[in-house]
Amino acid sequence: MSAQRRYNRLKTYDTAVHISRFDTVTAPGKGMFRVDAVRARAWVVVLPGMKLIDANEKNLDALAGKTAAVVGYGNQGRAHALNLRDSGLKVLAAQRPGGRGHRWATEDEFDIVPVEQAAKTADLLIMGLPDESASDVYRADIQPHLRPGQTLGFIHGFNIRFGFITPPDGVNCVMVAPKGPGTLVRSLFEEGKGLPALLAVERDATGDALAVALAWAAGIGATRSGVIETTFAAETEADLFGEQVILCGGVTSLMKAAFETLTEAGFAPELAYIECIHELKQIVDLIYTQGMADMRERISNTAAYGDVSRGPRIVDERVRASMKEILSEIQSGAFADEWIAEHRAGARKFRTLLDQDTNTPLESAGASVRKLMPWLKKA
Ligand SMILES: NC(=O)c1ccc[n+]([C@@H]2O[C@H](COP(=O)([O-])OP(=O)(O)OC[C@H]3O[C@@H](n4cnc5c(N)ncnc54)[C@H](OP(=O)(O)O)[C@@H]3O)[C@@H](O)[C@H]2O)c1
Ligand SMILES: [Mg+2]
Repeated sequence: MSAQRRYNRLKTYDTAVHISRFDTVTAPGKGMFRVDAVRARAWVVVLPGMKLIDANEKNLDALAGKTAAVVGYGNQGRAHALNLRDSGLKVLAAQRPGGRGHRWATEDEFDIVPVEQAAKTADLLIMGLPDESASDVYRADIQPHLRPGQTLGFIHGFNIRFGFITPPDGVNCVMVAPKGPGTLVRSLFEEGKGLPALLAVERDATGDALAVALAWAAGIGATRSGVIETTFAAETEADLFGEQVILCGGVTSLMKAAFETLTEAGFAPELAYIECIHELKQIVDLIYTQGMADMRERISNTAAYGDVSRGPRIVDERVRASMKEILSEIQSGAFADEWIAEHRAGARKFRTLLDQDTNTPLESAGASVRKLMPWLKKA
């Protein structure tokens, strides 16, 4: 059956359909679009604005009457717990005392239970712990209590992809990884929208692991926009690559280098900050909402010519070679091993590197620039 016909079946059957990556289909209100997610096997209920895949109602079935527990009430854990509770599920919060997570879970009026109890009682146990400490907590307080039929849920594939956690036989292992911060997972849900998510099934022990994962995705609002089915490996590798090379590492290093180039040449720090850092949001917002070509329609011709003629000199062959090297460190597991070893050794090097980038001229210039705009709100 053609991708278009499989896609059309969504109008008849209220179920997920699989459309292979790189298929092109036409969707009402969305025009023609290509399914081109990185290494994705298929789109699952991807279609914004189509009533019959209001998965928020339908796809919750696999979790109806079941208990979900979130271990670690942090940035993501909180959003998952609140959204799932608002979607009608029974939700427990397993959170150690004495910190921010405990305060948040108390404020949000959750039943706070020990991790062991969550592991024993939850049908869906969502790992909201930091990646670097999840395997220690898992070994001590989760694994001994798991039993066949439960589902262990991850928000990021790190611990499964690199073998730090191996769930016992009979336990489903799935992932729902929203593509953005927990605050957005929550605020979009409250607005009746949803953040897209990647979904993966590592082990289907019960035969309905995909349905459980879809129900979880629906419960946090992700199916209101789109859910891409992928694998733990693809999600983990692409996520680490993105954050290292562009989203976090690439962008901050580019900002620093540009800021320092201007200030070393005698430009005022505030001017350098506005030109090289502050204005980035406007460009990214344009790309985010309408794409790169349209962004170039909105900037001056001078800016667009500077963009296409100079950009490739900044990101040259040497930078591309570094990107490949970083990808191979991710795929070989070298980065994961380095990070876990760093964490276990007390994370001193990590803190030193973070400290080097605080109280810098760049940060002071940023503070002065932000003072000019008291209406800016913290995310
Ligand atoms: N941050 C994001 O928006 C984001 C985006 C995409 C995916 N993810 C993924 O989501 C998962 C959670 O990350 P996060 O950023 O949401 O974590 P986080 O904000 O750092 O929260 C972690 C939670 O786990 C608790 N915790 C930390 N160490 C613990 C330990 N040793 N024993 C018991 N509890 C512990 C913390 O409690 P305390 O408050 O007491 O420290 C906190 O509630 C990760 O897999 C991450 O890759 C996160
Ligand atoms: Mg990440």
